[in-house]
Amino acid sequence: MVLPSWLRLPAILFATISWSLVSASTHSFENTAIVRTVDLGGSLVHVTTTYAIRALDNGVNRYIVSLGENEARSTSWFEAKLKGQNEPLSVTTRPLDPTSDGTHSYVVELPKPLSVNGTVNLVVETVLTHATYPWPKKAAQKDDQSLKYEGDLLVLSPYKTWTQRIKVRAPAPRIISYTTPDSLDEFTTDQVATKSGATVTYGPFSNIPPSASTAFIGKHQRHVVVHYYFGHPVVEIASLKRVAEISHWGANLNIQNDIVLRNAGPTLKGQFARIEHQSQTFYNRLAPHIIPSLTFHLPPGIHSAYYYDLNGNVSTSRLRVAPSVPKAAQSNQYSTLELRPRYPLMGGWNYTFALGWDSPLADSAGYDASTGFYVLGVPVQTVIPGAVVNEAEVKIIFPEGATDIGVFPPFDPTTEQRSTHITYLDTIGRPAVTLSFKNLTDKHDGLIYVTYKVPLSVHLRKPKAVSIAFGALFLVALLARRVDLSLSK
Ligand SMILES: *[C@@H]1O[C@H](CO)[C@@H](O)[C@H](O)[C@H]1NC(C)=O
Ligand SMILES: *[C@@H]1O[C@H](CO)[C@@H](O)[C@H](O)[C@H]1NC(C)=O
Ligand SMILES: *[C@@H]1O[C@H](CO)[C@@H](O)[C@H](O)[C@H]1NC(C)=O
Ligand SMILES: *[C@@H]1O[C@H](CO)[C@@H](O)[C@H](O)[C@H]1NC(C)=O
Repeated sequence: MVLPSWLRLPAILFATISWSLVSASTHSFENTAIVRTVDLGGSLVHVTTTYAIRALDNGVNRYIVSLGENEARSTSWFEAKLKGQNEPLSVTTRPLDPTSDGTHSYVVELPKPLSVNGTVNLVVETVLTHATYPWPKKAAQKDDQSLKYEGDLLVLSPYKTWTQRIKVRAPAPRIISYTTPDSLDEFTTDQVATKSGATVTYGPFSNIPPSASTAFIGKHQRHVVVHYYFGHPVVEIASLKRVAEISHWGANLNIQNDIVLRNAGPTLKGQFARIEHQSQTFYNRLAPHIIPSLTFHLPPGIHSAYYYDLNGNVSTSRLRVAPSVPKAAQSNQYSTLELRPRYPLMGGWNYTFALGWDSPLADSAGYDASTGFYVLGVPVQTVIPGAVVNEAEVKIIFPEGATDIGVFPPFDPTTEQRSTHITYLDTIGRPAVTLSFKNLTDKHDGLIYVTYKVPLSVHLRKPKAVSIAFGALFLVALLARRVDLSLSK
């Protein structure tokens, strides 16, 4: 096996380019049209923005996408592609410079430089976390659930925009209220906002000058609030601690997850009433802000799964295992685990539990005989659709004596630490790498690839340690028989 191309991908994606090379000239492009769709959800909001761009210069290939300060703060995922293509484009971010234009720049590298009047459609997908909150903040057990989304209206750009339109789409037509911003007449002759079904459309706004500047933002940017019904629980993972332990000795990959899950819907008004809950369950009329159970998609081929909470083993879970396949994490097959906590999770409640499983090492590891490297992929997280993970920590424990360790996360962690992990029968301890992440979304479902070598002498060290341990035990037993410790003589 040759080291596959995905190992090189992260390095290319996050290649830093020198800022002096970026001519952020507002004259290199113009936006003939921008359409933004904001898909409202629970703890995640998915935003798709299509920029129809036209080059005004020859040989331009760096297009700047600007996000306002608030928007950038809640943006946890950013991906740019050419319309109709699957390959993400390389993006470099420039931190906010408070003295300059009040925006964050994401520099998108176009695959080919454009010449004058060359056009391209760029699709930017972002995921916002914590952009919604329950409103009202409290709800009784039988009440409905509604959320408020707050955000900035206009799509900012360092380039002139001929026309733009913003659609805010709720999951259902039951939109309780939405802001109609005033005094945007400079850019529109029509109504500023119109509602149709589950969608509120703002604009079209025309003839917008370059807008990535504090002056424009101060004068024209508008704050909008949309209040909508939400028919599913708002699930938030407050913390995920994943430990993946590689064992060549047992040909096993063990994954344990310590999870603090939070129902981020409206907090329960009054006491929890079990009778009412049972009757709601019976009539299949459970309020959307109650979580009775959770379904996880785990890798195929797993075994020895366990699930326990602060009170011990939870027996009300069901696991259906899909058969083992190589490259398990990338296949589209999965085992299904339905978790049923001991009690339904009401709004504002936390639930702390541990979930773990073993899987054949061969399902996620490969060996390159020509270089002597092992390659293994560990999923960053087990995605719960629509849920944010506020803090995640992934610790990968390598076999004892592993050397030449390389770690290739699918996106940048906030921190990366190396340590040594010592367990039973280890002689020198196992190298470990811990990666931390913040605000993961359901788009952050990649694999952390690791490469390492295990010298032959190390493969032999384990049996040696075991035999020494057994030998010592035997010797003690032997001595114990020889040496008479009784006091009676
Ligand atoms: C995570 O999200 C919160 C709320 O949007 C934000 O305040 C915080 O800065 C984010 N953290 C990171 C590292 O992105
Ligand atoms: C680009 O398009 C504009 C307007 O359509 C036209 O006037 C101009 O000549 C074109 N430039 C080139 C180099 O084709
Ligand atoms: C935990 O509960 C599951 C499901 O009933 C059961 O199969 C398993 O044996 C239990 N594990 C322990 C350690 O009691
Ligand atoms: C749940 O955990 C969060 C922190 O993650 C804490 O702020 C909150 O008070 C907890 N809620 C309850 C009901 O214990």
